[in-house]
Amino acid sequence: MITNTELEKKGNLFPTKLVSYEQNGDSICFTSENAVQLIITVVRDSMLRFRYATDGIFEKDFSYAIDEDQPHGYSVMDITEDDEFIWIITEQIKCRITRKDMRTALFDIEDQLILQDELGFHWEESFEFGGNYVKMSKTTVDGENFYGLGDKPTSFNLKGKRISNWNTDQYAFSKDLDELYKAIPFYIGLHSAKAYGIFFDNTFKTHFDFCHERRHVTSFWADGGEMNYYFIYGPKIADVVTKYTNLTGRPELPPMWALGYHQSKWSYYPEAKVKELAANFRDNKFPCDALYLDIDYMDGFRCFTWNKDYFPEPKRMVEELERDGFKTVAIIDPGIKIDNKYEIFKDGLEKDYFCKRADGPYMQGKVWPGNCVFPDFTNPKAREWWADHYKTLIAEIGIKGIWNDMNEPAVMEVPGKTFPLDVRHDYDGNRCSHRKAHNVYGMQMARATYEGVKKYIFPKRPFTITRASYSGGQRFSSTWTGDNLASWEHLWLANIQIQRLGMSGFSFAGTDIGGFADQPTGELFTRWIQLGVFHPFCRVHSSGDHGEQEPWYFGEEVLEITRKFVELRYQLLPYLYTAFYQYCKDNIPILKPLVYFDQADIQTHYRSDEFIFGEHFLVCPIQEPNVQGRRMYIPRGNWYNFWNDTVIEGGKELWVDAPLDSMPIFVKEGAIIPKYPVQQYVDELEIEELRLDVYYKNGKQNSIYYEDDHDGYDYKMGLFNLRTFKLTGKTKEIIVQQHVAGTYESNLKTMKIKFHGLPFEITSASVNNENVSLESIGYDKESNTIILQENFTDLHLISE
Ligand code: GLC
Repeated sequence: MITNTELEKKGNLFPTKLVSYEQNGDSICFTSENAVQLIITVVRDSMLRFRYATDGIFEKDFSYAIDEDQPHGYSVMDITEDDEFIWIITEQIKCRITRKDMRTALFDIEDQLILQDELGFHWEESFEFGGNYVKMSKTTVDGENFYGLGDKPTSFNLKGKRISNWNTDQYAFSKDLDELYKAIPFYIGLHSAKAYGIFFDNTFKTHFDFCHERRHVTSFWADGGEMNYYFIYGPKIADVVTKYTNLTGRPELPPMWALGYHQSKWSYYPEAKVKELAANFRDNKFPCDALYLDIDYMDGFRCFTWNKDYFPEPKRMVEELERDGFKTVAIIDPGIKIDNKYEIFKDGLEKDYFCKRADGPYMQGKVWPGNCVFPDFTNPKAREWWADHYKTLIAEIGIKGIWNDMNEPAVMEVPGKTFPLDVRHDYDGNRCSHRKAHNVYGMQMARATYEGVKKYIFPKRPFTITRASYSGGQRFSSTWTGDNLASWEHLWLANIQIQRLGMSGFSFAGTDIGGFADQPTGELFTRWIQLGVFHPFCRVHSSGDHGEQEPWYFGEEVLEITRKFVELRYQLLPYLYTAFYQYCKDNIPILKPLVYFDQADIQTHYRSDEFIFGEHFLVCPIQEPNVQGRRMYIPRGNWYNFWNDTVIEGGKELWVDAPLDSMPIFVKEGAIIPKYPVQQYVDELEIEELRLDVYYKNGKQNSIYYEDDHDGYDYKMGLFNLRTFKLTGKTKEIIVQQHVAGTYESNLKTMKIKFHGLPFEITSASVNNENVSLESIGYDKESNTIILQENFTDLHLISE
């Protein structure tokens, strides 16, 4: 154990004895003999915020991460004290502050210790930059595990890892490389079957050590700024994740087409090539909703311009694609080419919106267009100016989504691949250097883009995607994991990264399916599509210089298999859309790692291959070449094999067959899964019949289905339906009840209900409490299906 004296010798300073404390509304401010102050704020009954000032002077309280609309409030806040301690007690947690050294400890209401300071808060002066390196260390309990931290390409359970956050452009990154495109300084700790979260809201470079340096210590620290963190109590991981997401904000519902299959490459050009691509999708009957234009659509990579040789009439092209059911998404980077004939450059210069170095010159750096300047997206006026530039692309040309890239920010051919640290930023009126603004630069660019797209696409919904982000960035954009590689290892990483992002509040995420750099074999491509159709964002993208990556490129077999899986995604769109609804409304992640699903089962603590998609699907990708199946863990409960309906009792590991045209997919017993017919793109068909797949269970289970117009804002005025299906299964009877909340008039007329695993033969039926003949409900014995009016409320199927 390192002692304080040893650390002090190394230049670390500590709070000393408490001398006073004072309550001010939700907050209590503690002051130590050496003038350190700690403010503890009760945010909710299960959430406390801790802020430290080493000299009693706090910075202005400002955060890009916290959602201003997040609900506050608690029911109990008591303060008690004795000679040794002061206690803050809420309805769910107790926080103990030790008088002699200001260390804190957190307990649940049953007095179980959840988390306590080891050395606690300490700091080191930063002689080079001013301010402090602010540090915190906590004691780790035996058997404690850690999760979270966004896009890190490392094992899912973070125990034993040391990780830092500094947004970096990492072409073809490798496993265990910790500085990638996003900074999400939020983690979850789990021990004694109870979970808590720590959100360290500090935008400087942050570091986390999970028992890497010392076995029983977890620590986090930053290169500057304030020790400012939130403690979020579960006890369920699900509670921690939803509370964190609530704190940092959730997105609005995306348009349903954004959940379709997307095809991208660097780059599809000229127009004839894009048209050929579109025709190939339709000719091959391979569903697709969006095509992407990478940087080559621009004139010399100048943002908001078009290369008129390649795309002489973009508006016409975009319209024609739209008629065939394709939305066009275009890329926009932050770098603005230094060019006196380029309007945006001149205008930005005149308005003084570009970043400058400490001593005054413009921040110049090389990106795709050559030497560039960069808007300061932390300046609200620059954000507004940037947003307005989308008018032409969106309102006039008809582009439907914007893809922001290189916004770490990435600069080529310089050490560190980004801005020098002295660059100045407005930071919404809290002027600072790049050390503080770096990790939010991409998020603020995505925010400006989101505002612009939203304004000009109205009354439709915006769709945006960003590479870089910070905690809370999920409010403004979807994301992808950047420049991965066509390798089996990256397929493994893809699975982990998207689950991890989901646990970190960022559900709307995907990877470059097939790999960005290098070219996948047909087998790897197939396995990646199989996983990718279960990711909230599903896009094939590649660098283009390693060969083609369209589904038909790998031959007939691959085309057929990948089509089958993409068709499955399109069938599951109502199910996935419902999962998005739960994410956007109730902060529930779309993918749930097994530890999230069943934390009480310790088998799940180190699992990362298997995950839950939405509420009812268990999915496990094949991540190795030349295999006909794999061993996987089936979590507790009974599960139907999706392909053959055999029922498996979980809580064990087993072998599951999965030749190339298959992958392990299971459905939880009792689930009712809404399905659409296959479409070539969202809203191709006017769907009048919803298919419901009912998986029999001896017992009860609820499922929900959310429906609205798939786009636009009418749902915000209440024009949506939330259908709850209640299943009750008995030995010789199954009951399905439907409750519809909402006033949306859907196109649905009927529901075709298919029963899986019914242990009896249906001999009689009643609908809405009236006996009906089996013929009148279209009973088909062979397929075990019936057809009902969409608004049925009560169905009984009986065997007599
Ligand atoms: C970056 C992006 C990649 C894009 C390329 C060209 O490498 O990550 O997706 O295709 O730039 O714009």
